Amino acid sequence: MVDRRTFGMWARGRRRALDLTQHQMAELVGCATVTIRKIEADERRPSKVMAMQFAKVLGIDAGDFDGFVAAARGFRAPATGVGAPHEIEARLPVALTRFVGREGELDELERTCSVAGGPARLITVIGPPGVGKTRFALEAASRLAGRYDTPAVLVQLAHRSAAEEIVPAVAAALGADLGDVRDERTSLIARIRTGPLLLVLDNLEQIQGAGQVVADLLETCDSLSCLVTSRRPLLAYGEHEFELAPLTEPAAVQLFIDRSSALLRNRIADHDEVAAVCRLLDGLPLAIELAARRVRDHSVAELRERIGSSLSALGSGPLDRDGRHATMEATVAWSHHLLDQATQSVARHAAVFRGGFTADALAAVVPA
Ligand SMILES: Nc1ncnc2c1ncn2[C@@H]1O[C@H](COP(=O)(O)OP(=O)(O)O)[C@@H](O)[C@H]1O
Ligand SMILES: [Mg+2]
Repeated sequence: MVDRRTFGMWARGRRRALDLTQHQMAELVGCATVTIRKIEADERRPSKVMAMQFAKVLGIDAGDFDGFVAAARGFRAPATGVGAPHEIEARLPVALTRFVGREGELDELERTCSVAGGPARLITVIGPPGVGKTRFALEAASRLAGRYDTPAVLVQLAHRSAAEEIVPAVAAALGADLGDVRDERTSLIARIRTGPLLLVLDNLEQIQGAGQVVADLLETCDSLSCLVTSRRPLLAYGEHEFELAPLTEPAAVQLFIDRSSALLRNRIADHDEVAAVCRLLDGLPLAIELAARRVRDHSVAELRERIGSSLSALGSGPLDRDGRHATMEATVAWSHHLLDQATQSVARHAAVFRGGFTADALAAVVPA
């Protein structure tokens, strides 16, 4: 029954197939989460009673109970003797809202990513603020993790600014105690090399030199894959640039309806009006979410008029949200703040254009 894997590995795979977290599993079995973690890491055997409970939760046929319990109690050491089984826990935040659209992009990312046997070990999801890079990367990572039994871990780097902060942040996200801080990199590499791992490195655009740090980890850990989000490419060797476009109109409309439905109560939003609002917002999910909140005070038709005249009509998002994203204006301000002064000045001059411009036209309005 446990074929060539240890009992812990088998139990982990089975739990994941049932889409249960270790915490949920612990509740069902009636033990502490840490016990599940240890059993899955083959650090301890379940008691006979616990093994019976495991069998029930994991859906083992009653006729197989005895064999199962014997296997669980007499768990085998790793067959190959190549060291401890992989212990890195999957750590992705659970989304509070429904993910919409992007089926084509999810498929394309899956075909590209090394976790699924594709060619790219480093994929950078690139796009403007609020286009949905973080949300897409998390959705893709959780899909890859589930289908290819690879733990995926989110490393949030939005508030980091120096390349030296990346290694400690990855270690913290893995829950690794690196011990001697003088050689964090070596300890982290040893940890990562224990098995396949997908790191989601979120928000790297403001970290100079991030590409080198990520490339170094990938060069030393051959079972590591990285999914990065950034407003610009890292320009690292082997990087696959994955440009994320705004939502298609049907997905944008779905997003607006999802986010506004609780606030609309028994009013009904007209589909064409919603589509018009989404077009005005260029299909940007962040802007659509902000706009959808405004239906508390305005009809969709009113919103359409107000948005047509000013971005600040979008107001601000829920108070617990990341400061960079609280309003559409703050989002643009963060991008602006990352530019040097000369580039900021060029951007200000470019503001006279509507709907894009050529290099020649820009040169004509920027003072020499
Ligand atoms: N496909 C999607 N389905 C549902 N919500 C989305 C989708 N894409 C983005 N969002 C939501 O829109 C907001 C902005 O997306 P986010 O991923 O933070 O953008 P970015 O990382 O590009 O700045 C978030 O609240 C996110 O949950
Ligand atoms: Mg983001």
